[in-house]
Amino acid sequence: MIAKVAHLSSPEVHSPERRERQHRLRRPRILIVTPELNGSGYLGRNGIPGPRAKAGGLADISTLLVDELSARGIDVRVAMPHFRSLFPDAPMSRRLYLCKDREFFYRRSVYDGSQEANRRAALAFQRDVIQNILPAVKPDIVHCHDWMTGLVPAAAKAMGIKSLFTVHNLHDEITTMAEAEDRGIDAARFWQNLHFGHYPHSYEESRNSNPVSMMASAMNAADHVNTVSPSFLQEMMDGRHVAGWGLCDVLRGKSHCGAASGILNAPDPSCAPEHDLRIAQCYGAEDHRAGKLANKLQLQRMLGLEEDASAPMLFWPSRLDPTQKGCGLLAHILYQVVNDYSSLGLQVVFVADGPFKPHFEHIVNFHGLQKRVAVCGFEESLSRQAYAASDFVLVPSAYEPCGLAQMVALKYGSLPIVHRTGGLQDTVLHLDAANQRGNGFVFETHDCGGLRWAIDEAVRFFIRPEQEREREIARIMRQSSEAFSPQHTAEAYIKLYEELSGRIIGDARVEAVPGFRPVAKPQLVHIEAA
Ligand code: GLC
Repeated sequence: MIAKVAHLSSPEVHSPERRERQHRLRRPRILIVTPELNGSGYLGRNGIPGPRAKAGGLADISTLLVDELSARGIDVRVAMPHFRSLFPDAPMSRRLYLCKDREFFYRRSVYDGSQEANRRAALAFQRDVIQNILPAVKPDIVHCHDWMTGLVPAAAKAMGIKSLFTVHNLHDEITTMAEAEDRGIDAARFWQNLHFGHYPHSYEESRNSNPVSMMASAMNAADHVNTVSPSFLQEMMDGRHVAGWGLCDVLRGKSHCGAASGILNAPDPSCAPEHDLRIAQCYGAEDHRAGKLANKLQLQRMLGLEEDASAPMLFWPSRLDPTQKGCGLLAHILYQVVNDYSSLGLQVVFVADGPFKPHFEHIVNFHGLQKRVAVCGFEESLSRQAYAASDFVLVPSAYEPCGLAQMVALKYGSLPIVHRTGGLQDTVLHLDAANQRGNGFVFETHDCGGLRWAIDEAVRFFIRPEQEREREIARIMRQSSEAFSPQHTAEAYIKLYEELSGRIIGDARVEAVPGFRPVAKPQLVHIEAA
């Protein structure tokens, strides 16, 4: 006992340097708050994967982050709404906090179509995070994703918790403090951190009638904001997208003080034709020609298309959302493209859901294109088979915060046809086969002519000598599997967590602290909450 007292009172123990080092070496606890997840291997139990509630790429990216952080032994916890009807009532990891409210218990999809219901669900979700989970978990950093989590950074700030807000899309919802309070959120505790429609003179004056933007509030209050690609950040700051509420001003302000960045997403590691069990025949850069032909014939058989291994095949992988994804452009030119390239037997395959699906079905039926065009609803295995079978992937989005489809396509040796915007611009460079540069077909002007030009460029490449095509596809596949890696994405977030928390996560940074031995490389461990 005496020895212990003597030890504790020794000047070395209390030295500020030592305390600082100890602080830096305690690994931070990260709480990820997301409305969507896609079956994380680390959040399930007894061999059953964690919850799957997916509307788009946000589910994939939050899952990738959880898995990559968990694999490095980082103390990561996750909060999401309890969509009881979407995932089985199976035992889950204790690191997963499922927020309770009947607003999402009985939903059949993450967003249910009604703006008001979605806003109510978002407020219920955030109530549980703000009132219960944050105080219980006491994270060093809360990492929030998209508008559904927009009030959390403001509340976290009032609790002295650092926050990171990731912008996956432009969608926003507007609420009032009165509405948030009716849903059980004590907004009076953090109202000064919110972003209002007009200057808030006082709490009482603003409570009922001064609207609050969830997205702008998050950007305003978070210690750091990131978009999912560097170009999208720049475009938002330049005011190139329709984003109300002075979002571009808030972002510009953040960027000015070094608190905004763009971190590129990466596709799920299971998206690799070398070992993808969902495709008919696995292949790599060396044997892509034989592998892709076998997959093409298999897909043609499955979908009732003309069985023609030499036909160029275009694949549409993204949801048929006319506002963002540019499907209207294709609808205008689809018949003409199929008709103009009938001598080559060009085929188009859709594996996607969305409001524009009936239009494509109508075009196919009206012109009797069933042997050349297949319109199928989204299904993960079919989608993978189509990446493997196709020669080109269509991503003509009007805007694209990141986009995963073009990266997945490149890994499968299917070259993307894209509009030069956001994450598409950061990942696809127009092909220059003669100089062995580039990896796809990029058009500048977002109209039917632009898309048609890029499709023509793609077909021109398709009819080039076999040897040249093979060489280019092999090069592109190799470069892409190196460039689009989950490790790069996770490391960029880890670096941010380290900066925000002032703590060290990766072993590389431990080495950098003078006088400290590097810790052992993190093993694959599964941390459970106490
Ligand atoms: C949204 C964006 C998409 C991005 C994804 C994941 O779905 O539209 O561009 O890749 O979020 O961040």
